[in-house]
Amino acid sequence: MPAIVLVGAQWGDEGKGKVTDMLAEGVDLIVRYQGGSNAGHTVMVDNEEYVLHLIPSGILYDDKLCIIGDDVVLDPKILIEEIDSIKCRGVSLDNLRISCNAHLVMPYHKTLDRFEEELKGKHRLGTTGRGIGPAYVDKMARVGLRMSDLFDREEFEGRLGHTLKYKNLILREIFKHEGFEAADIIDEYLGYAEKLKEYVADTSLLIHNALRDERFVLFEGAQGTLLDVTHGTYPYVTSSHPVAGGACVGAGIGPTKISRVLGITKAYTTRVGEGPFPTELNDEIGEHLRKTGGEFGATTGRPRRCGWLDALLLRYSVRINGMSALAMTKLDVLDELDVIKVCVGYKVGNEVISEFTTDFRKLRECTPIYEDIPGWKTDTRGVKDYRELPKGAKSYIRNIERIIKAPISIISVGPRRAQTVILRKFV
Ligand code: IMP
Repeated sequence: MPAIVLVGAQWGDEGKGKVTDMLAEGVDLIVRYQGGSNAGHTVMVDNEEYVLHLIPSGILYDDKLCIIGDDVVLDPKILIEEIDSIKCRGVSLDNLRISCNAHLVMPYHKTLDRFEEELKGKHRLGTTGRGIGPAYVDKMARVGLRMSDLFDREEFEGRLGHTLKYKNLILREIFKHEGFEAADIIDEYLGYAEKLKEYVADTSLLIHNALRDERFVLFEGAQGTLLDVTHGTYPYVTSSHPVAGGACVGAGIGPTKISRVLGITKAYTTRVGEGPFPTELNDEIGEHLRKTGGEFGATTGRPRRCGWLDALLLRYSVRINGMSALAMTKLDVLDELDVIKVCVGYKVGNEVISEFTTDFRKLRECTPIYEDIPGWKTDTRGVKDYRELPKGAKSYIRNIERIIKAPISIISVGPRRAQTVILRKFV
């Protein structure tokens, strides 16, 4: 049985939630391997919309084990709100498991996230303010607190007390904030522990056993390749490893266990927050993509920056993740356009660049070189079979496959499960 990694090929928000949900039907386990509540997956089931931040979208099926893995940074307050909100809509949470190794997002992480952004001024990253960066910083500095620490009061109190002394010093001296009381955090977090304890497990072992028993495991990345802290457009990135390789560390499995990598790309490009975006459109076409595609952040509500598809960026993403195939979402958003452009190179001064670079200085200076594809001006939202797609749309897909040197196996033409065209068997 395959172990598939599903990874965002751009700057996040590619529609991974829908593809996970679609593939989930045949899957036994779904594992979220990094990030935290900075993510927001929107899934439509029978006209009902669900927005999930931490829980894998497979939870909407009642027979899938859904795992929040080792390298996730988990805000227990948000997770409990999410559990309660989907429970009261009749969704069972019996199949949720949380890694005992997952680090906790603490109140001071969220406060520091906001203050540090303010301090950066024009160099700010435009973070989601969910405390993600500061939580990963503490993990690496070995002063973080993990899920398992919540069940050892003495250890939790001791380590929190030590860390808080240092955090309060920074908050009070640099940011003129009143700081946090250890007793308040202890009460709050031990309360969360009571609510979450039934879900906590050695999730790496659960995954290992499932793979040993030839069950089908789907690893679900949050954010996207270009937001990866090592392989993205640093420093305008998140603090984790959304790339497919991150699934191994993030879920506690070895690389030999992964059989396939499915990249998810939109039919155009979006980005939230600061950082270079060569194909960005600050004109009425960008506005059209934003409006037609509903391009507003699921977590922060911020309008997403929109632009043409960048095939250079996609080819890079195929390489970094070792993608076996791609799913292209939101093709229907392009239906009304007269001409559709695809970026096939960059010009920096007199130099033509034909491979993507993560150097934000070059990306900022470059002018995209485009190939024009005539628009198909046909509503594709009801298309169920590749043969029914307009000629122009087929030519768009084939052109991109040629440039990125990877097959596009799935096309999505709307938010519902049924609005999906399978070009070739992926699993
Ligand atoms: P952070 O992850 O909140 O630290 O934010 C760092 C950068 O990643 C910012 O530009 C965010 O807008 C971006 N980001 C974080 N999570 C997501 C996501 O789920 N989708 C798109 N962008 C994201």
